[in-house]
Amino acid sequence: MKTLIKPHGTASLQVPLAKTPRESDKVKNLPTLILNDPALSNVVMIGSGYFNPLEGFMSFGEAKSVCQTYRLPDGLFWPVPIINLVQSKPDFESGQKIALLDPTRDNKPCIALMDVSDIETLSDKDIDEMIIRVFGTNDSSHPGVKKFRTLGNFLISGKLEIFDLGSFPRDYPDTFRTAQQIREHIVNSGWDKVVAFQTRNPMHRAHEALCKLAVDRIGADGLIIHMLLGKLKDGDIPAGVRDDCIKTMVDCYFNEIPVLVSGYGFDMLYAGPREALLHAIIRQNMGATHLIVGRDHAGVGSFYGAFEAQEIFDELQVSNDLSIKIFNADHTAYSKKLGRVVILNEVDGHVPDDFVTLSGTNLRALLGKGEMPPKEIVRPEVAEILMNFYQS
Ligand code: ADX
Repeated sequence: MKTLIKPHGTASLQVPLAKTPRESDKVKNLPTLILNDPALSNVVMIGSGYFNPLEGFMSFGEAKSVCQTYRLPDGLFWPVPIINLVQSKPDFESGQKIALLDPTRDNKPCIALMDVSDIETLSDKDIDEMIIRVFGTNDSSHPGVKKFRTLGNFLISGKLEIFDLGSFPRDYPDTFRTAQQIREHIVNSGWDKVVAFQTRNPMHRAHEALCKLAVDRIGADGLIIHMLLGKLKDGDIPAGVRDDCIKTMVDCYFNEIPVLVSGYGFDMLYAGPREALLHAIIRQNMGATHLIVGRDHAGVGSFYGAFEAQEIFDELQVSNDLSIKIFNADHTAYSKKLGRVVILNEVDGHVPDDFVTLSGTNLRALLGKGEMPPKEIVRPEVAEILMNFYQS
């Protein structure tokens, strides 16, 4: 049997699943905390094994260490603080066990227990310093920065015991998968080299071409299209529609390639390079050997350079800490001359007008104007789903 790539930081996945039944009196009598969206998605990611080996929410000291050095104080490589910020001072204390409630479901069920190790009050300056480190900017027009600023100044840290993974398994039964489930799929499929593709978009032709190219050049046995199912900024396309588009595209155009279409429950940060590093950890934890990082990976607007998310892996010499390999790709665009999607730095004899630019932003702009995106940008079967969504 093939040996799977090891998860980040441990020999096998460690998921802090709860031993106490959610309904027990022990749980019912605990102080409660209604989670905000980012904290909820952090709990789901820890419980799904994607944030292995984290066992709970970081303290301010740990978050600062991650921000400043890309490492936890114990030396573990970690690029983004995984924290629980709340707006008002809680009425429980450190040392207590509390129940964390899921705000998105009826009756706000308890999703996890937390052993509160600390409750720290952060100044606005502390918050701002974290924001600048994570996002590279403190400009509130950046959707991740804007969200971060609304979370509050009280940071509650501690270990978790998680009961379930929120509404994701019920809302996306055929798509949502935990890291462990994806590892099982890889083993059952007998895959050795496995390429992961991160996306928050319905897949357009650059995405399709990148996936095929990576599989071919790496000599991969399988491809995992791994879509974000959590919250996005306004104007991005909802997960259900993206899921439909991606599955349709795979059915029509990926006949030769073994593909798993799956998703994970995290809210997009739009943190560019830092988020790309987190994406690599997530994919290593689910057993992928390679992650595709293309143009402006996890970026938004013009906040990051087109290839900053690739460069950071070299700058930080991440290969000393992570086993997953990065498949870097240059800009892809549709060549009108060649009638196919190409990598810009691999074709000669073209002028800018010979290309149709492929990006999620372009695609959404066309759809927003009620225009059918042309076949050079998106496959017709996918265009139809998108048009129906935009006209509904
Ligand atoms: S992301 O926020 O999830 O990165 P998106 O779903 O658009 O956004 O991109 C998924 C992956 O495809 C990322 O690695 C991104 O860099 C890459 N990508 C998207 N469009 C292009 C393009 N035209 N050329 C090269 N890479 C691209």
